[in-house]
Amino acid sequence: MAKTATPSAVQAFTIQLIVSRFNPETDEESRWESFDVEVFSTDRVLDALHKIKWEQDGSLTFRRSCAHGVCGSDAMRINGRNRLACKTLIKDLDITKPIYVEAIKGLPLEKDLIVDMEPFFAAYREVKPFLIANSKPEKGKERLQSIENREIFDDTTKCILCAACTTSCPVFWTDGQYFGPAAIVNAHRFIFDSRDDSAKERLEILNDKEGVWRCRTTFNCSEACPRGIQVTQAISEVKAAVLRGRP
Ligand code: SF4
Ligand code: FES
Repeated sequence: MAKTATPSAVQAFTIQLIVSRFNPETDEESRWESFDVEVFSTDRVLDALHKIKWEQDGSLTFRRSCAHGVCGSDAMRINGRNRLACKTLIKDLDITKPIYVEAIKGLPLEKDLIVDMEPFFAAYREVKPFLIANSKPEKGKERLQSIENREIFDDTTKCILCAACTTSCPVFWTDGQYFGPAAIVNAHRFIFDSRDDSAKERLEILNDKEGVWRCRTTFNCSEACPRGIQVTQAISEVKAAVLRGRP
């Protein structure tokens, strides 16, 4: 009888995770705390944070929900780069050195890795991120759209509102009033939708001094986006539409 291969055991190893901690009740500012964590090569940074929380320090505070790159709640700075903890495999990082984890920048720090997302969502709401149509579809019919028209805004439909782009933007760090890349991405999604009738209104909103013209095209946003959205390109397309006064 032919022998069947047995899968080799997955080896565990220890990494050093240095996490930025902040307790608003006792700390004036954030401080680094080091943890040694035993992980597997298949683990993600989110798994390591869970291990710390469940086995070493239950007070460690961070957001997460889906754990699979869908909900956008666990964006954080990992080794100085904005990423989703649930999409960052530990084996893809340099584990010969400590791994630094801290909250995303530019939004008010609430506790440990959690920031107040309200200013981010306020900017998102301002661009009216929903379909506004003046006419009703024919009775019993859907609003039709060609494949070509749908493709124009396909990329920006992928946003999961994780804020990795906005909080990697140096303009947003220095001017918290700037709408930020994510709000512009979500405006783009409707500005270029052939079924929508409020593109002009959104373009006027984004022609504000805190709108698209604050973008300095540093590409941090495109590099940070875990969904691979070409954020800088979307902002450029909105800028061109503002100049034209139409999509
Ligand atoms: S554009 Fe990308 S980085 Fe920005 S909020 Fe959406 S998914 Fe996150
Ligand atoms: S936990 Fe939902 S995207 Fe990471």
